[in-house]
Amino acid sequence: MLLSTGIPGLDKMLGGGIPKGYVVGVIGGYGTGKTTLSLHFISEGVRRGERCIFISFEEDEESIIETAKSFGMNLESNVRILRLEAEVVRDSFEKIENEMKTIFTDFGVERVVIDNISVLETLYSERERYKALSTFKRIVKESGATAIITSESDKDNPLHSKYGILEYVSDGLIVLRMARGGEFEEVILIAEVLKMRRMNHSRKPRPYTISERGMEVFEEAEVV
Ligand SMILES: Nc1ncnc2c1ncn2[C@@H]1O[C@H](COP(=O)(O)OP(=O)(O)O)[C@@H](O)[C@H]1O
Ligand SMILES: [Mg+2]
Repeated sequence: MLLSTGIPGLDKMLGGGIPKGYVVGVIGGYGTGKTTLSLHFISEGVRRGERCIFISFEEDEESIIETAKSFGMNLESNVRILRLEAEVVRDSFEKIENEMKTIFTDFGVERVVIDNISVLETLYSERERYKALSTFKRIVKESGATAIITSESDKDNPLHSKYGILEYVSDGLIVLRMARGGEFEEVILIAEVLKMRRMNHSRKPRPYTISERGMEVFEEAEVV
């Protein structure tokens, strides 16, 4: 079974959508639309009557609801928004891990977003980073939900996450990046699906925009 991301052009690039139960990494620099894409995924779930959890390391519940509203999305029902402080998660990881497990099970969650693990990763050593990410993945897998986890990209290599771990623990990987034709040309936004286990996905970079309608991916357009 495939889950629509709520972005038709991206669904086409993915070969129909995200396979149920997958953990998909979304990597991009600041302002490339990681939060916007995540909101589409959650609001599409809400529209279909699925139970959704949006975990944010960046924004408060109010701000997330407002941002969603600015895109015409309604997150009033079927959604739980959890604000996590990176330092609190680091200092009491097991407690948070148990709370997440309980909430996921009790709520019967079907779609999960963890928006921006980079702040948390910054606080960790390499080993702890891997442990934290694989724990998040395990919790999602055990719950049977489908998840998107976002991360900043590496500043020298936009196809990799900042710490190079998310791409290994995830079943699929979507990369968002900015490119500029010339010094005085407008920045264009480009989406690519770099990996999606057992799916015949497109590998072609495609342009996208973010407007008051949210993210639109032009899956038939060539990047020029
Ligand atoms: N309502 C809107 N109308 C037009 N563009 C928007 C709107 N909301 C966000 N954007 C654009 O999207 C960018 C931020 O997207 P966001 O999803 O927050 O990125 P990220 O999470 O990757 O940092 C903004 O910098 C802006 O260019
Ligand atoms: Mg963001």
